[in-house]
Amino acid sequence: MSLKVELSEKVYWLGFNDRRKHLFENQWPLEKGVTYNAYLIDDEKTALIDTAEAPFSGDLVAWIKDLLGEKTLDYLVINHMEPDHSGAIKEVVNEFPDVILVGNRKTFPILEGFYGITKNIHEVAEGDTLSLGNHVLQFFMIPMVHWPESMVTYEINNKILFSNDAFGSFGTLNGGVFDDEVDDLTCFNEEIRRYYSNIVGKYGAQVQKALAKLETLTIKLIAPSHGMIWRSKIPYIVEKYHNWSTHLGEAGVVVVFGSMYGNTEKMADYIARFLIEAGVKHVRVHDTSKTHSSYIINDIWKFKGVIMGSSAYNGGIFPPMAHLLSDLEHYGLRDRYLGIFGSSSWGGGGVRAINKFAETIKWEIVGEQVEARCAPNESDIDRCRNIANAMAARLLEI
Ligand code: FEO
Repeated sequence: MSLKVELSEKVYWLGFNDRRKHLFENQWPLEKGVTYNAYLIDDEKTALIDTAEAPFSGDLVAWIKDLLGEKTLDYLVINHMEPDHSGAIKEVVNEFPDVILVGNRKTFPILEGFYGITKNIHEVAEGDTLSLGNHVLQFFMIPMVHWPESMVTYEINNKILFSNDAFGSFGTLNGGVFDDEVDDLTCFNEEIRRYYSNIVGKYGAQVQKALAKLETLTIKLIAPSHGMIWRSKIPYIVEKYHNWSTHLGEAGVVVVFGSMYGNTEKMADYIARFLIEAGVKHVRVHDTSKTHSSYIINDIWKFKGVIMGSSAYNGGIFPPMAHLLSDLEHYGLRDRYLGIFGSSSWGGGGVRAINKFAETIKWEIVGEQVEARCAPNESDIDRCRNIANAMAARLLEI
């Protein structure tokens, strides 16, 4: 018997909590796991919307058979070909050999590439519809949210948006499937934004286009491919997507450092304290050697102020800090205020590299930077206070 969660009449969530995987896409830590959500519509014609990662293939097929009984599966709608959602396609096709695979023109080359499947395909384009009986599906393209072939499926009569990766999150579900069944949305928010910033964040302009398109629809339920289903807080999550995709930052500061022997770290701690003394309410301190960049980027996506410090390393920047800078350049996050500090030991290079990063990413430099020679002296600490005060003053202006 399968766990059956009905979204609306004859529309079912078939979600899988993955608590075993350690790294999503083999790079993002999954301390709280992740879900893969598939959906089944049982009408005169039956349709599955997306699948799950390959290890869940057997469970997914068993679930579909349990729900459909004697009926067969008529359609498999492929909103996205990334293997976390397409991994069970082959097993679904093996089990239901006549199933029609629904996708757009960019879907099928990837389908063939990953799984060698070329038959029983039905190509749809922007705005096309597919009737299942009482349920009618309509398709909208959302390229690069977050692959070129990404699309969403809208069920017209019940106003359900199967939103693919959009509005999804890291984190498994603790029994609550709908947003109003999740008791700690604040906690979940961190994983929603970490998912957005690290997986979708690079494509803010495309997210804006997708949001503009979806604003023309009346939506009662948003059913993403990861995380909870939105029904009570749809305006809330849509507003978050607007803010994140336009790189809006809240009043707060992320102090992030790379430190070999604790001298740059000491300066970071002074700066964090001076920020609080200057009236900044939200301050987060991160050590790039300790914390995975996805968590640091998550905080930088949230807050407008960033103060970065690095020790020198072989005449350049400390490698874990270099990794973070490279990630941030890759995502192209805009419109942040940047303070710079560090320590030089025998050669310097850390502060120089952060300045080069600032030029590339075009963030506004705030305050006068400080580079201590080896360990910070009293004058260096005074200059750390100046950076904190300048950042606090700049934040007050927003
Ligand atoms: Fe959840 Fe882009 O895959």
